Amino acid sequence: MTSNLHSHQYSYEKAEKKLQAIQQTHLLEYWEALNDTQKEQLLGEIERLDLASFQMQQKVLNKNGQNNSSSIEPFRNVINREEGTYSEKGIQALQQGKVGVAIVAGGQGTRFGYDGPKGCFPTTHVKGKSLFQLFAEKVFYASKMAGVDLPLAIMTSSNNHDATVKFFVANNYFGLKEEQVSFFQQADLPFVGTDGNMFLQSMDSIAKGPNGNGAFFEHFVGSGIWQDWNARGIETVSFILIDNPLADPFDLELLGSHTSKNNQVTIKCISRKDPYEKVGVIVADDQQKARVLEYSEIEEKQRLAKDSEGGLLHQCANISLFSFDMAFVKSVAENCGQFLPYHLAFKAATHLNEKGESIRSKEPIANKFERFIFDMLPFTANVSALIYPREVCFAPLKNPSGINSPETVKIALLEQDRKQWKKITGTASPLHDFELSQEFYYPTEEFKKLWRDVEAPDTFYIE
Ligand code: UD1
Repeated sequence: MTSNLHSHQYSYEKAEKKLQAIQQTHLLEYWEALNDTQKEQLLGEIERLDLASFQMQQKVLNKNGQNNSSSIEPFRNVINREEGTYSEKGIQALQQGKVGVAIVAGGQGTRFGYDGPKGCFPTTHVKGKSLFQLFAEKVFYASKMAGVDLPLAIMTSSNNHDATVKFFVANNYFGLKEEQVSFFQQADLPFVGTDGNMFLQSMDSIAKGPNGNGAFFEHFVGSGIWQDWNARGIETVSFILIDNPLADPFDLELLGSHTSKNNQVTIKCISRKDPYEKVGVIVADDQQKARVLEYSEIEEKQRLAKDSEGGLLHQCANISLFSFDMAFVKSVAENCGQFLPYHLAFKAATHLNEKGESIRSKEPIANKFERFIFDMLPFTANVSALIYPREVCFAPLKNPSGINSPETVKIALLEQDRKQWKKITGTASPLHDFELSQEFYYPTEEFKKLWRDVEAPDTFYIE
């Protein structure tokens, strides 16, 4: 078989040779049925395949199931968040322009099943603002409050990068300056079937998925954003997940505590609700180094472990909200091969049936490889955690209905607005459903004076 695609620098022959070296030539099975554009697409994918990564994947597969049985203890360096303890330090960090926000939004959102980036999903309770708009407005008003332009970086992946950037451009960056916002794209890794081989998701494309939110470190630094932020004087990265609209990128207590303690990492966490909640569990090793046991991997013994009073021994739930020291981010990026292992999940996937048609499997068929953001924890010299009431910081959007769905998120956002209304105005909150502008969450002194003692209006959106 030879290629008739002479224009492409990467030839069929080269592709075949590369695949032969790793016994994956079946990926060229449909070559003769492809048109020129499809051939180019497939050759491009094979050219970008990283052989070292594939070998690494094989190693991970062979190791899977072997237990890392280092000792597990409760993580003790946790204190309750007390409002007002550190906020002065937090506001100083903002005013000095030392904080940037990184949002990871590269996930496939398979459980949620929305056709588009999850960040574009209309989420807020009255205005139906998207998650991207909500967070961009938080950056806008926090910048106004601090008197400096605070930067925002968003991690995307191949499945949503273009749509995400277009969404910001079409909406004029939601009031932010273009130079305040950066996008960076994480990599994909091929899925591997039970036979240890890659497979096609369409005749011209290898089945693959984003390499996990722990890829943040390497891509944030690799994209040059770290260097740009460093030059701007950013010292702390506030890290949040796109799917939690209660995540506060400018939590003054968290930022203040982080800078006061000179931490490399400060964890914002909540108490676990029950042993089977789908949240990572924060534990420690025998040196009291923090680590997280992910809900999909934790052993029953650790999941159910009780303290002497019958409560959960491992009390803290990871919600992947962190303050990171910039130098620490760089050192993790430089050592990520050693620091951050790949985790395996067995998932349903799109593949080809006997007729060569793309179909989605009903059952899991594919090993997916992901790095997890919290795997940097054992490498921190100084880390502590602040534990928060769940209702102030955690209302994730994971499912289309039921628990952690648009309905539960709307209720949580309305509750938060009611509390914030009372805090800013001192008057009773409106009885009807209403939504506050994000300015209420990052108020200037002037704004606070303007709204003090104001009675609730009967409008649905208050700004
Ligand atoms: C995550 C946490 C879990 C926590 C839970 C709380 C991790 C690894 N796990 O689990 O400990 O209790 O949230 O809600 O953080 N993402 C990417 N790229 C990827 C994969 C994911 O950017 O390749 C982003 C997603 O867009 C999302 C976030 O990471 O913003 C979480 O991803 P998801 O896979 O849904 O995590 P959970 O399983 O819910």
